[in-house]
Amino acid sequence: MTIKTQVDLKQVNQQLQAFATVVNGNHPIREVTADEQLRVGVDLGTSSIVLTVLDEQNQPLYGAFEYDNAVRDGIVVNFIESVQILKRLKQKAEDVLGVTLTTACGAVPPGTGHGSAKIVTNVIESAEFECREIVDEPTAAAQFLHMQDGTVVDIGGGTTGISVFEHGHLNEVLDEATGGFHMTLVLAGYHHVDSAEAELMKRDESKEGEVFAVIRPVVEKMA
Ligand SMILES: Nc1ncnc2c1ncn2[C@@H]1O[C@H](COP(=O)(O)OP(=O)(O)O)[C@@H](O)[C@H]1O
Ligand SMILES: [Mg+2]
Repeated sequence: MTIKTQVDLKQVNQQLQAFATVVNGNHPIREVTADEQLRVGVDLGTSSIVLTVLDEQNQPLYGAFEYDNAVRDGIVVNFIESVQILKRLKQKAEDVLGVTLTTACGAVPPGTGHGSAKIVTNVIESAEFECREIVDEPTAAAQFLHMQDGTVVDIGGGTTGISVFEHGHLNEVLDEATGGFHMTLVLAGYHHVDSAEAELMKRDESKEGEVFAVIRPVVEKMA
């Protein structure tokens, strides 16, 4: 029997790991020239706001994030705070890259409708970017990973989105009502700490094995 591998998992993992290193690194991976057309992506998440800068070949150059609780269940609940955070991230990116960032794209979960795309546009424009496009998150992920056929599993704060692609088209979207926030809650309960502390513990790579042992039942429910 032959098993057809839909994507090269090893390559995808490397790409995701490289992206995480860029976002956590807080410094550009190379110098940028003034005439380069840089691409900025904005993710207004439940637990953090992430800004990413790609070059013309879609290679990640720089990324940074700030923790926040301005978004809940995919809805911007604190507009002003989101804008302030995004403005700070933009300023920081411009300082380290030595260029002005003029345009940005945003992403929203699939099926959240015109309303949430509008709010994300407003946040991006209030942070003094021209908003080029709002795309749906799994499609952005599939494009970044060069995936034509396969499934994108996006663990969010409150839910996990499962998006099935066939021949480059998004065919099916499912939402499982468990996400990273439930992992944080289980960790907080186990260690008798508040969720802010548990959130940091969860993201600490040196505690990965220990954390996974505690949150395993949450992952098993999701799987
Ligand atoms: N480095 C990390 N390690 C573990 N969990 C993380 C890491 N970065 C983010 N998360 C978790 O991923 C989940 C999704 O975050 P986020 O993208 O902000 O939410 P959403 O997609 O629902 O808006 C959160 O529960 C967050 O804690
Ligand atoms: Mg997300």
